[in-house]
Amino acid sequence: MMPAERGLFIKTYGCQMNEYDSDKMLKLLEKTHNYKLVEDPEQADLVILNTCSVREKAQEKVFDALGVWRGWKARKPGRVIGVGGCVASQEGEAIRARAPYVDMIFGPQTLHRLPAMLDEAMQLSGEGKKPAVIDISFPEIEKFDNLPTPEANGVSAFVSVMEGCSKYCTFCVVPYTRGEEFSRPFDDVIAEVTRLAEQGVREINLLGQNVNAYRGEMADGGTADLALLLHAISRIEGIGRLRYTTSHPMEMTQSLIDAYAEIPQLVSHLHLPIQSGSDRILALMKRGHMAIEYKSIIRKIRAIRPNLSLSGDFIVGFPGETDKDFEDTMNLIAELTYDRSFSFIYSPRPGTPAAFLPDDVPMDAKKERLQRLQDRLNRLTMDVSESMLGTVQRVLIERPARKNPKEMAGRTENNRVVNFEASSDLLGQFVDVRITEALPNSLRGELVATPEAEVYAGRPRQKFFQIYAL
Ligand code: SAM
Ligand code: F3S
Repeated sequence: MMPAERGLFIKTYGCQMNEYDSDKMLKLLEKTHNYKLVEDPEQADLVILNTCSVREKAQEKVFDALGVWRGWKARKPGRVIGVGGCVASQEGEAIRARAPYVDMIFGPQTLHRLPAMLDEAMQLSGEGKKPAVIDISFPEIEKFDNLPTPEANGVSAFVSVMEGCSKYCTFCVVPYTRGEEFSRPFDDVIAEVTRLAEQGVREINLLGQNVNAYRGEMADGGTADLALLLHAISRIEGIGRLRYTTSHPMEMTQSLIDAYAEIPQLVSHLHLPIQSGSDRILALMKRGHMAIEYKSIIRKIRAIRPNLSLSGDFIVGFPGETDKDFEDTMNLIAELTYDRSFSFIYSPRPGTPAAFLPDDVPMDAKKERLQRLQDRLNRLTMDVSESMLGTVQRVLIERPARKNPKEMAGRTENNRVVNFEASSDLLGQFVDVRITEALPNSLRGELVATPEAEVYAGRPRQKFFQIYAL
């Protein structure tokens, strides 16, 4: 018999992979223990912190937050605290020592065991015993096999196709917290996307820490790379747009570059982190390529898709970074014209090779470089938005607009939100919109064509349409 409904509050730190994992935790606990997501933690019986350890600040936040949750737990007996994600994976024992009131500690690869861990934690606390249940192992495929069947909750869906990273960049903890690269079998991914498409999903974003390192086993014993997977998904009825994130330059194979010529559903937008424009720093980071090789990849894709919007991740203040190295990064950004990108101050991570290098760039210099870099990136992003004025963009209508009930909101290929007047009947359809205004965080436009209106006019309303209560 299903237990009575209980409240679950999840606090997610860090990347899209963590957002995805949090969603899976909710679905799992909904199914097995009748937990429902609550927005006010005071209504919750279980609180989960899904943590990130990519940078020091993110890690510190976890211990600060745990201090707050200790009081929350003391106010009502029986409340349970779980810590998941990369900090849990790396600092499991330290969490147990510093925060003994935590009941469960699990890593990104063991979240599917959450229901069993919860039963054990509740039983232990019922018996008056209090050691936290810890499971931070790397059982790889088991996770994919034991997560609930995905349900669409919008017109766009993330599908995780691989886990972990085997690149071991010298600054990064991910290979240690999420384990080595491991891909899902090809047929499993196809089955999941087909199911989502049947529920009305139109856009798929393939997710992985190094998604273009995908090497999925096929039923005939062969191996599919990301290009082959994209080809197969593009043939699934209803899927009109494909994205993938986040990728590594060393995995941008010729077949993946060719996919830009062969797969019209693949967006003209690529997130391809480079971290630095200096060859010396790239070598110290052990990225495995030089700036010129990266530029050559972008040149090849832009030869196929001249309007490719490119975004990246950048680190400033890596050990030994000189003014000249930093200028190389600034020049690369100007040369390749980046769109909305991420940039960070280098944060030494315990256990990584770079943490043994002298962290010799003064903090003032790091902050100044970050400021200059972000000003340039923000300017470039605004330039891209302004260059879209007057153009007609293909927009997938995702939801009603937040401010005006007569308007709908959708996204362009380069991931800009556009608000425009349109009928709610067009939800889930690709339409053509002329861009009329570029705002800092969104665009405004006017509908010029609805090429799918006839095809989709008689289509039964799918489950997600009810979510928006149109
Ligand atoms: N797979 C991606 C790639 O190809 O580079 C990276 C994923 S990583 C989790 C996300 C971003 O966090 C990195 O691209 C990097 O810019 C940043 N990052 C990772 N470790 C960092 C560190 N120690 N200090 C600062 N930023 C870091
Ligand atoms: Fe980290 Fe480098 Fe992998 S940044 S996630 S080790 S590609």
